Amino acid sequence: MNYKKKLVIALSEKLESFSLEEVENMIEVPPDRDMGDFAFPCFKLAKTFRKAPNQIAADLKDLLRLDESFEKVEAKGPYVNFFINKKILTKEIINRVFHEGDDYGKTNRGEGKTICIDFSAPNIAKPFHVGHLRSTVIGNALYRIYESLGYNCVGINHLGDWGTQFGKVIVAYRNWGKEEEVRENPIETLLDLYVKFHEEAEKDPTLEDDAREWFTKMEKDDEEAYGLWKWFSTETINELKKIYELLNVKFDHYTGESFYNDKMDVVIEELKNKNLLKESKGAHLVDLEEYDMPPCLVMKKDGSTLYATRDIAAALYRKRTFNFEKSLYVTDYSQNLHFAQWMKVVELMGYEWAKDMIHIPFGRVTHEGRKIQTRKGNVVLLQDVLDGAIEKVMEIIEAKNPELENKEKVAKDIGVGAVIFNDLSHSRIKDVSFSWGTVFNFEGETGPYVQYTYARAASILRKAEIDVDTSIDWEVLVEKNSLDVIMDLGGFTEAIESAMIKNEPFIVTRYVVNLAQNFNKFYNECPILNQEENVKNARLALVFATKTTIRNALRLIGIEAPEKM
Ligand code: ARG
Repeated sequence: MNYKKKLVIALSEKLESFSLEEVENMIEVPPDRDMGDFAFPCFKLAKTFRKAPNQIAADLKDLLRLDESFEKVEAKGPYVNFFINKKILTKEIINRVFHEGDDYGKTNRGEGKTICIDFSAPNIAKPFHVGHLRSTVIGNALYRIYESLGYNCVGINHLGDWGTQFGKVIVAYRNWGKEEEVRENPIETLLDLYVKFHEEAEKDPTLEDDAREWFTKMEKDDEEAYGLWKWFSTETINELKKIYELLNVKFDHYTGESFYNDKMDVVIEELKNKNLLKESKGAHLVDLEEYDMPPCLVMKKDGSTLYATRDIAAALYRKRTFNFEKSLYVTDYSQNLHFAQWMKVVELMGYEWAKDMIHIPFGRVTHEGRKIQTRKGNVVLLQDVLDGAIEKVMEIIEAKNPELENKEKVAKDIGVGAVIFNDLSHSRIKDVSFSWGTVFNFEGETGPYVQYTYARAASILRKAEIDVDTSIDWEVLVEKNSLDVIMDLGGFTEAIESAMIKNEPFIVTRYVVNLAQNFNKFYNECPILNQEENVKNARLALVFATKTTIRNALRLIGIEAPEKM
């Protein structure tokens, strides 16, 4: 099946002084398919063969032995160009999509290997903002991408559920809070209380002392303090789960920072024993000057630990518990230094697996156009973004297709899909600009465009009123437009693998937009239902295969594909 592999083997037979890998790396994909599906440039061989590249290309062309999966080999200047036998390819790919269905694209490359993915991780009593949305969406896509390649994935929500902010919230709650409000709307209410605390503390600084006191009580397991903290966390997590459900996200573990409270002493002890700790003004830190980084603070003067200490404890715990092959952390790039520092500390502790922990940074979200700001000023709450998106789609449906079945579900799928897709449309490190106008563009490279293409394919198949199968005349799928679609279909697994290797979900997003565009060209150029039986059946098979692949690709990035819209 693997054309490139066949090519590597055939070429290597004639190029004994080069390794398989070297040969593979030399193979190129020409920018235009008319020039071939693969090209082999001969410049690098000139020295070895003491011949001009053009001559080597001509010789190679005559010497190579390839089976019928290649229909033509030509020497053009210093290149040998290879043309895949499209009939065989078409048959193979369409058969595979039919046969594998929902599993098309999957492999077992990661069998037996575990990947930990730390993502989302909002902070309790602080806003769940669009930055957390990006982490959630990217992390979820990575989870699905690795999973589809056979890896065992462990999704971890490292919630910010411990820290001095709880002292503040407790004080605010005891002064001004209402139980029903927390129950009804925990995320916003706790945030309001947090904001209120800061307003009041400006007038009355003693509140700060109260807050410290309550946090200390919490740390000492005081019944009231601990009880309130526990209650705030539980309410918040329940609320978060609703957002995650909307986004098709699930976690295997909700182990927030507080989970490591009893796992920190041993870390400090170990650092001490390994002579890594330094004291500075009563605080403890690991010096990283040698590595051009500021010191990593692990314990404050008052004995309390820090964000970094908890990350070190969590890393040791995860290695011990899950024995990961790789452990990924998805946050925005403002935390680059934090991750570089504590990961260095783990390395200095002598753990060779420190290299398997990877920080996956991403850019910030900027927003323009219609306000998606809340009364909290410049904080954009995720729930508002999603609700806004769904509402907006609902307006469009009411205007254009009010009879649509399952309107609510479709509006949800498209609205949420648009937000997710927008987030994943560029390399993750780029900042994302959020504007309602572009997010819902049905023409541009957006989620709704791909979903619309999917629904169009579904509608063609419904109208055809026949069971599509693979007993078709392969000879008729020969125009450039259908071949472009077939080549895209054949490249699906490659796209998933490349997204996995680079930890870049946008490779899948790009893949599916490209497939949708090529499919729409095919649809515009190649009429289907009014054709002779054999042409009609072959084209319908292609529609079916495309539909399946679009759905599988969207699923990888956490987007649903409605059958009608
Ligand atoms: N709660 C943190 C924040 O909102 C993100 C946590 C990321 N994960 C980690 N293991 N540090 O910035």
